[in-house]
Amino acid sequence: SWTTGNVIDEQVAAIREQVGDRRAICGLSGGVDSAVAAALVQKAIGSQLTCVYVDHGLMRKGETEQVEKDFVAATGVQLKVVDAQERFLNALKGVSDPEEKRKIIGREFIRVFEQAQAEIIADEGPAVEFLVQGTLYPDVVESGGGTGTANIKSHHNVGGLPEDLEFQLIEPLRKLFKDEVRMVGQELGLPEEIVQRQPFPGPGLGIRIVGEVTRERLDLLRDADAIAREELTAAGLDRDIWQCPVVLLADVRSVGVQGDGRTYGHPIVLRPVSSEDAMTADWSRLPYDVLAKISTRITNEVADVNRVVLDVTSKPPGTIEWE
Ligand code: XMP
Repeated sequence: SWTTGNVIDEQVAAIREQVGDRRAICGLSGGVDSAVAAALVQKAIGSQLTCVYVDHGLMRKGETEQVEKDFVAATGVQLKVVDAQERFLNALKGVSDPEEKRKIIGREFIRVFEQAQAEIIADEGPAVEFLVQGTLYPDVVESGGGTGTANIKSHHNVGGLPEDLEFQLIEPLRKLFKDEVRMVGQELGLPEEIVQRQPFPGPGLGIRIVGEVTRERLDLLRDADAIAREELTAAGLDRDIWQCPVVLLADVRSVGVQGDGRTYGHPIVLRPVSSEDAMTADWSRLPYDVLAKISTRITNEVADVNRVVLDVTSKPPGTIEWE
């Protein structure tokens, strides 16, 4: 019968057999799937696994620390953190178009990740032949089976990585659904904040700033987002909503009055949604007192924000994210 204990024991044995005394690499995104996959492989092969976390500076408050400290504390994993904040900010300079932003973030991410991989491969030690991925059952079905190998091409000119390096994939979550992955993660002792994390897009806050992405705007949005999350959690609403993007309309200003004077600041949008699979969504009917608390706190505590607005659009026609 299915128990998380059985799944873990089976996978640990299978991974040990597959990897032998060679090494594996795993990219961590901060999300549930990669964290649980990494924790499982770590349990199986310990220091033969190295994880890579690219800090692109587009994460929410506390999330990078969650990976750097809490995840490492819970698993004992070897972690290589690449601070690429400057690089991403430079690459995004002057760019407002959503698709352009996504392309740049995706491209820079692959470059930084491949560079880190090349450095790990160049280290002393046994061959690195395995790449861990947090592929879930629904992903396997959607992509029609999967091939079991990944062809990492060194087309980005990252020194040290052989042409057409072939990794064998380790995908310990291939038979699991999301809720089962969360249970496995819990059994492995991962922190609640990681195991119960709501969906968050790979391009991060970069696609939640309507307008150019700058360090100041990221800091401002991080503060507003942290307040919204704190109040939603305090109200016990985390399980009721699918996710709640908090968006900064950096290209919009409106007039307000705060303290003794007139302000001309930016609006923050709250986008709480309920959904089953993110393909469709409805806007969440959050209690007014919770919305009021979030609005008051954001306008009081976050400089340059003088208005908080609520997105009451379902998907379709709106997407969940604004970009
Ligand atoms: P949309 O905005 O298309 O979002 O309704 C659907 C779900 O996908 C998430 N999302 C992303 N996740 N990389 C990701 O890993 C992305 O580029 C990306 N774009 C959107 C979004 O947060 C929502 O859960």
